[in-house]
Amino acid sequence: MIQIQNLAKSYGVKTLFEGVHWQILPRRRYGLVGPNGAGKTTLLRIVCGELQADGGAVQKPKALRIGYLPQDV
Ligand SMILES: Nc1ncnc2c1ncn2[C@@H]1O[C@H](COP(=O)(O)OP(=O)(O)O)[C@@H](O)[C@H]1O
Ligand SMILES: [Mg+2]
Repeated sequence: MIQIQNLAKSYGVKTLFEGVHWQILPRRRYGLVGPNGAGKTTLLRIVCGELQADGGAVQKPKALRIGYLPQDV
């Protein structure tokens, strides 16, 4: 399980998201839907550990490996 608590990210004065809570359960599938520029990719890159959040936490088991296939090459 991946547990996302109170996650926040801004770029400059633009707040992409704040107060994000999300529980990603094993073997479940999730769709993350939003307009272009909403912050979907940024959120997933924080979950992967590629980006730092400004606040909150992502908790996951130490042994968990995350695969991430970016949409652009
Ligand atoms: N490194 C960055 N510096 C400044 N703004 C960024 C950066 N990365 C993304 N953004 C901005 O953050 C917003 C969200 O981007 P993104 O997470 O790619 O959205 P989505 O995947 O939902 O289309 C966009 O307005 C984008 O221009
Ligand atoms: Mg995107």
